[in-house]
Amino acid sequence: MASVSNSGVSIKPIVIANWKMHSSRRESRNFANNFYSLVSENKKLACDIVICPPVTLISELRDVLYESAISLGGQDNHYEVSGPYTGDISATMLVDVGCSYVIIGHSENRREGDTNQLIKKKINFALNQKLNIIFCIGETLAEKIKHKTFLILRNQIKNTIQKKYDLNKIIIAYEPIWSIGTGKIPKAPELKKTFKFIKNEFKKNFKTKTLPVVLYGGSVNGSNIVLFSSISEIDGFLIGGASKSSKKFIDIIKNYYK
Ligand code: PGA
Repeated sequence: MASVSNSGVSIKPIVIANWKMHSSRRESRNFANNFYSLVSENKKLACDIVICPPVTLISELRDVLYESAISLGGQDNHYEVSGPYTGDISATMLVDVGCSYVIIGHSENRREGDTNQLIKKKINFALNQKLNIIFCIGETLAEKIKHKTFLILRNQIKNTIQKKYDLNKIIIAYEPIWSIGTGKIPKAPELKKTFKFIKNEFKKNFKTKTLPVVLYGGSVNGSNIVLFSSISEIDGFLIGGASKSSKKFIDIIKNYYK
């Protein structure tokens, strides 16, 4: 189920695990060992896979997965190389530990105070460090009810992404906030419209020849993922809760991208 960009180029779908603040060293080592054998059994997986664990677990996963095609990502980054920023992790440090991706702008970080301005600085710096960006956007339930979804998404894109960026390194993850961890997912026709809107908005604003890669995130699991199959605009998924078990996660991928 490869997507096709506007230029006719086939894009490999991408499935990303967002572990948030979960898991221990022992659990992640078990995950990595299982996942490595499950992926090796399925050499023809038709999608790219990225795992974004807490920073403390990146090297555990890297030690097991470094020979596989699975990539690692951070869940956020600071916008300077180093400095007096207690508790923060710089994009340079993520690269140093083996990451090639980073999630930026997740609604859980926006909730803790990340503004579009701050997110822009984080993206800018992460791109300088040659990381691929998983840029999260999405509306709250109240905004959806007031029919403000497109307005919110437009603002999040326009006030954060700049024309000068290497846009090929930016993946958008559309995650309606009301859907994250709630078991609720948008209806297919509505989601299709939103995906078209995001792709066109990106193209119009940044005068790109190709459409961006856009993922869906929010309560995706093995039972409901089939509901997304009618939406050809979806280029992959950002999965939270259902990505913590290696078996569940690989089954979702295998069943969807047959
Ligand atoms: P969820 O989380 O799959 O648990 O809803 C997705 C996310 O927050 O990225």
